Amino acid sequence: MANLDRILIVDNEPGSLSVVTTLLKAEGYQVTPLRESEKALELVKSDEEFELMVFDIRMSPVDGMELLKVAREFRPTVSVIMMTAYGTVETAIEALKLGAFDYVTKPYKVEELLITVQRALEYTKTLQENIDLKAQLGSRYEYDNIICESPAMRNVCDMIERVAPTDVTVLIYGESGTGKELVAKAIHEHSHRKGQRFVAVNCAALPEPLLESEMFGHVKGAFTGASSSKAGLFEVADAGTIFLDEIGGMPINIQGKLLRVLQEKEVRRVGGSENLPVNTRVLAATNTRLEDLIKRGTFREDLYYRLSVIPIEIKPLRERLQDILPLAYHLLRSELSQGARMPSIDSEVRDMLTRYAWPGNVRELENAMKHAVTFATGDVITKDVLPARLLDVMASMPAGFPLKPGEPFNCKALKNYLRDREKEYVVQVLSHFDGDKSKAAEALQVSLATLYRKLPESYR
Ligand SMILES: Nc1ncnc2c1ncn2[C@@H]1O[C@H](COP(=O)(O)OP(=O)(O)OP(=O)(O)O)[C@@H](O)[C@H]1O
Ligand SMILES: [Mg+2]
Repeated sequence: MANLDRILIVDNEPGSLSVVTTLLKAEGYQVTPLRESEKALELVKSDEEFELMVFDIRMSPVDGMELLKVAREFRPTVSVIMMTAYGTVETAIEALKLGAFDYVTKPYKVEELLITVQRALEYTKTLQENIDLKAQLGSRYEYDNIICESPAMRNVCDMIERVAPTDVTVLIYGESGTGKELVAKAIHEHSHRKGQRFVAVNCAALPEPLLESEMFGHVKGAFTGASSSKAGLFEVADAGTIFLDEIGGMPINIQGKLLRVLQEKEVRRVGGSENLPVNTRVLAATNTRLEDLIKRGTFREDLYYRLSVIPIEIKPLRERLQDILPLAYHLLRSELSQGARMPSIDSEVRDMLTRYAWPGNVRELENAMKHAVTFATGDVITKDVLPARLLDVMASMPAGFPLKPGEPFNCKALKNYLRDREKEYVVQVLSHFDGDKSKAAEALQVSLATLYRKLPESYR
């Protein structure tokens, strides 16, 4: 089938240029190959239309990074893929920061290249479909209920804004409690499907037969107990959105069926013979890397590529410190009963909140704020109303740890650090036994002589 997508490829090296050109032409794309990067510079600035640009990084007289910068300026809605040889990956990462869609490292696998091209083209479409909507949307960050102060989270909000108006499939990745469902709902709420159903299904929670009939429905008599026919969630969410949560836990048989639904846009109820057309947008979420599951053979690679047309990654809370306090205030406010005064958070607690690692991410912070509101008596949130677990972890952490990025730090040799910590611990144990050295040595399972050596002089 002829493909109308136009791709500009710029590479000084004739061999590599001709290989990529042949590959993409074979896929039906309209390819413009160019060896002279100075000509490419003119072309990028011209009116000639492209849906995708592919630049090699190392070129002269104009290098790929320069072309990228000009492309971002002149064609903000056209995706750019960078090609890079091994050893220049740092530059490729730099390119991502400048707005490249992705990069491909030479030598590349053909499939990898084609998939990147496909995804980049999808991305161009979402960007272009969005131009008009952006004007209607007004404010860039008008997501009242999503805190996105950190650059990482801003990026997520940007992505929501871009993908929401399209029907593209989105795969949301994030550790437990990072806000995957919130993001999925925001996509639905900002789409033309708003007002239609948003249904969530936890793909890891139901046994295979139940999940299958839940998703695709069943006809009467399809299995023992199927006394009447039932529509599946794909049908229920027709014209709306289905959110496939914990997709990594979906049994492999159902993965095959889902793939077919995505391809054909039709479902067949369990036991049925009819295919019913459905127009349901699919959003999926996972807290395990599907790439790992593919390697283990528990997740279908073809389904992965179908689902992750646009991937959105939500970073763990500990990697986006700027969000912690705004989130804490936001969550605190939503826990207050109506008319209650908004308490302040004292500086010791603020410090703890930003130093704690939040293994349960935003959900854990939410629970901590619930706890605080329940136990707070005055207008200030102090340390004593935080959950015990959090206090325990903070108490066992040496002062000043974990370090905040950019914080000045006087680095000690590891053995000196360990010796200091050991001394503190031995002193604690000794005071627990009221200074009885024999008992302390016994508890620590060391000889009395060793205990003496490890104690600070004033305790010997
Ligand atoms: N950026 C944010 N701004 C405001 N609230 C947030 C944000 N991120 C998460 N939350 C809140 O944190 C809670 C957990 O979010 P959510 O349920 O979406 O996470 P999840 O990734 O789906 O978690 P799980 O993996 O446990 O299913 C929700 O109450 C959500 O509203
Ligand atoms: Mg969830």
